[in-house]
Amino acid sequence: MTLTVPHTALARLEEQVQDALRRADDSALDVLGYGEITLVLRLRADGDSFACKRLPVFPDRDRFERYRDSLDVYLRRLAERGLTVAPTEVWHTTGPRGRITAYCVQRELPPERLCSRLLHTEGEAWAKSFFARFLDRVDAAVHPTLGLDAQASNWIDVDGELTYLDVSTPLMRDERRRELLDVRLFFTSLPWLLRDAVRVTMATSIFDKFYETRGVLLDFLGNLHKEHLDTLIPVFLEQANARLAEPITAADVASYYRGDARMWELIQRLRAADRRWQRTVRRKPYPFLLPPPVDR
Ligand SMILES: Nc1ncnc2c1ncn2[C@@H]1O[C@H](COP(=O)(O)OP(=O)(O)O)[C@@H](O)[C@H]1O
Ligand SMILES: [Mg+2]
Repeated sequence: MTLTVPHTALARLEEQVQDALRRADDSALDVLGYGEITLVLRLRADGDSFACKRLPVFPDRDRFERYRDSLDVYLRRLAERGLTVAPTEVWHTTGPRGRITAYCVQRELPPERLCSRLLHTEGEAWAKSFFARFLDRVDAAVHPTLGLDAQASNWIDVDGELTYLDVSTPLMRDERRRELLDVRLFFTSLPWLLRDAVRVTMATSIFDKFYETRGVLLDFLGNLHKEHLDTLIPVFLEQANARLAEPITAADVASYYRGDARMWELIQRLRAADRRWQRTVRRKPYPFLLPPPVDR
């Protein structure tokens, strides 16, 4: 299934985003979903509906080309390892001083089929069959050089086929465990996080979990706390542990989640403070669309 990205409609969407940032008011934007880092916007055009994920602004063409190449490789490698990924295209426009604004664009898939939602609306039998399919997919895909952020909100179940959505941050490493992603660029909304070598090392350890099945599962299970789906944890643990050499306990999940939630809360708080500072003291528009606070 190929995807034809509607150029003029996207250019118009980007103008709306610019306007929202200037006015510091994103209430007029049609938001399809919230991730930890980005807002996903809905775009209706040509009788179709698209999910548009705005990327951090690239300072030059070279940084952008490298990103686009790594996304292509990521999509190809995930497919080779048996994962169904939502067809994804990159749209871009060049602005003043050669800076590039780009979006990852996918067709909008039915939001009511988002797995984090189905885990609420369907019964335990569906949850168990979902999790069995999920374990197969994750185990086949994840590799020390190929990572997955497998939270329930990153999958849509269409006709019994789990489709992975969250590819805009390609998780790939070289043989020496170095991230191929332009980590600095992707954390431009968190400049303080990457200010020195110590923090770069910290970022590495934040990413570690995505590159091994056990870490991916811990992250998935931990996030069920955030989604208020705690009652499913024992059910899923039984299924997961039937396959793992080193079992995961409910206490592992809880303590993982406490650490993870604390980290994201801190990040959200610091970003909100930075936004206040930029707007009120420096009187500059804050250049990112932030998701609202999450109740953890
Ligand atoms: N193709 C799509 N169709 C429908 N909803 C989507 C699509 N892509 C993303 N979403 C919605 O947006 C949310 C965040 O998207 P995601 O790609 O996971 O970005 P992030 O990296 O910010 O988590 C998803 O959880 C989902 O609710
Ligand atoms: Mg996501």
